[in-house]
Amino acid sequence: MEIIPPINLKAQYETIRAEIEAAVAAVFARGVFILDQETEAFEREFAAFCGVSHAIGVDSGTSALHLALRACGIGPGDEVISVAHTAVATIAAIEMSAARPVLVDIDPQRMTLDPSRLEQALTSRTRAILPVHLYGCPADLDAILAFARAHNLFVIEDCAQAHGATWRGQPVGGWGDIAAFSFYPTKNLGAYGDGGAIVTNNTALAEKVRQLRQYGWKERYISESKGFNCRLDELQAAILRIKLRHLPAWNTQRQELAALYDQLLAGSGLILPTIPIDTTHVYHQYVIKLEKRDHLREFLSKNGIHSLVHYPVPVHLQPAYQDLGYATGSLPNTEQAALQVLSLPLYPELSHENAARICEKILEFAKLNTNF
Ligand SMILES: Cc1ncc(COP(=O)(O)O)c(C=O)c1O
Repeated sequence: MEIIPPINLKAQYETIRAEIEAAVAAVFARGVFILDQETEAFEREFAAFCGVSHAIGVDSGTSALHLALRACGIGPGDEVISVAHTAVATIAAIEMSAARPVLVDIDPQRMTLDPSRLEQALTSRTRAILPVHLYGCPADLDAILAFARAHNLFVIEDCAQAHGATWRGQPVGGWGDIAAFSFYPTKNLGAYGDGGAIVTNNTALAEKVRQLRQYGWKERYISESKGFNCRLDELQAAILRIKLRHLPAWNTQRQELAALYDQLLAGSGLILPTIPIDTTHVYHQYVIKLEKRDHLREFLSKNGIHSLVHYPVPVHLQPAYQDLGYATGSLPNTEQAALQVLSLPLYPELSHENAARICEKILEFAKLNTNF
């Protein structure tokens, strides 16, 4: 029985090995490893991909969110509205900026921030909304941007899972004031190590981020502000440049696999992903929902198919975040999602035969079980 992993980075490497080896060798030969021509070129190319004026490479998605918040001047005493159905990093970054995360529930169809909850979460301290384009699907930007404009709030997009996703034909990342991407290896665009980027059309914010990522330097050895060290390195930038060229084709392959899942699982009784109007989804994850999630996961695993759960414990119920003061039951859609979501294997190199085998097994499970 062929084992199907949830992700397969080795398979992707085999398809680009020669290009990567040449790019890495060129960096070694030049002998400059920090903030040089590869990073500058990647920043130009990634800004063009996102349709924005500026991209700044950093060392992780968490750093990208942290610096984006800091560049907006967010700090102690400020509140930032976001969601608990996300990677803990989203909320960790808000706390790194010393602001208080205010968590609202998700829209259960879209699985992203429910804009109808914003009014209730708004206080005189609210400075920003931080929507997460989870699983590769844009959050409800229309309503979020309108609310932010009406209340003079920053919008900071968490695009860690949505490289290339679009709303109204424009990529995510350029809609809010500033946005953060992660290049964690498993992302749609992943480095071979950690990496991230901030993108924005706002030149002043871009300049602040550039300073903050390197000790607050305005010029070498002169710190205009108190900064950090969150630089992207040349090796990762060189790797990301190669992979960025393949990203549109990889996203298409993900979309084709998702369409196959949609087709083969239609009528199964499972809740399948929905694509909101005016958006393109880039399927960082293909997430189904069912009550008997753990049973199905075990059944698939026994059949050599390994799935994942994003995420089993929402941030407000994590042991470390009890001080935020949200009891069990306070974010019902979020808590239900944590119990029901299952991410099926999805990566560009997954064969259509294997995707069909996964669906066959899921349908077999559905036949054996009622009320799943
Ligand atoms: C939605 C979201 N935000 C933020 C991050 C943080 O990115 P990184 O792991 O690169 O710090 C991730 C990735 O784990 C993520 O999925």
